[in-house]
Amino acid sequence: MRTGFIQFMPVLGDVDRNIARISELVRGTDSDLLVLPELCNTGYHFISRAEAGALAEEVPQGKTTEALCRLAKGKQTFIVAGLIEKSGVKCYNASVLVGPEGYIATYRKIHLFYEETLWFDPGDREPEVWDIGICRVGLMICFDWIFPETTRILALKGADVICHSANLVMTRCPDAMVTRCLENRVFAVTANRVGTETRGEKSFHFQGRSQITAPDVSQQQTDRRGK
Ligand code: ACM
Repeated sequence: MRTGFIQFMPVLGDVDRNIARISELVRGTDSDLLVLPELCNTGYHFISRAEAGALAEEVPQGKTTEALCRLAKGKQTFIVAGLIEKSGVKCYNASVLVGPEGYIATYRKIHLFYEETLWFDPGDREPEVWDIGICRVGLMICFDWIFPETTRILALKGADVICHSANLVMTRCPDAMVTRCLENRVFAVTANRVGTETRGEKSFHFQGRSQITAPDVSQQQTDRRGK
């Protein structure tokens, strides 16, 4: 089985442009399971719940999940990607799992980071594992990494590979994922974004360093170019 990540710089607020860029990048890959960053179709740094809400989509009928399903079918691959999920009046920082046969599942981020608590509702379901035939995948999103329980729950539920969509701003995560995978005997694919988003006085710099982490560190693959 071949797995990979896509690391790129989404344009804040421009979902159509981001879907076009994602489509171009996915078409250039050759893997069985591909992980994209957190909020990869919207960008990250919102300033109000209304702004985030205006970019939210219902799943699976929203245009981003539909585009991901088309790409997964075309490439005969599984894809995990982060987006904002609208569900009634709730708005979740979520990731979707899709495959050649269409939409499979959604994970809603449980551990919201910093001001995400102002824009999003916290995930209301336990982290889950899905058997996609080639392996069993567990989903978690960015800051979930700092709570060892998230990875442990996914491992106890039988995950072989943890798909970790991220917008990392803290430098410790790539190192921490080595321990998470070692202590839980799982693989992880951390797909991070790059670039900087500045709104008023506040700026977030996203560090790249996406990586595939194995329980045996000798198999680890890291992107150290930060691009
Ligand atoms: C983060 O959870 N996006 C830092």
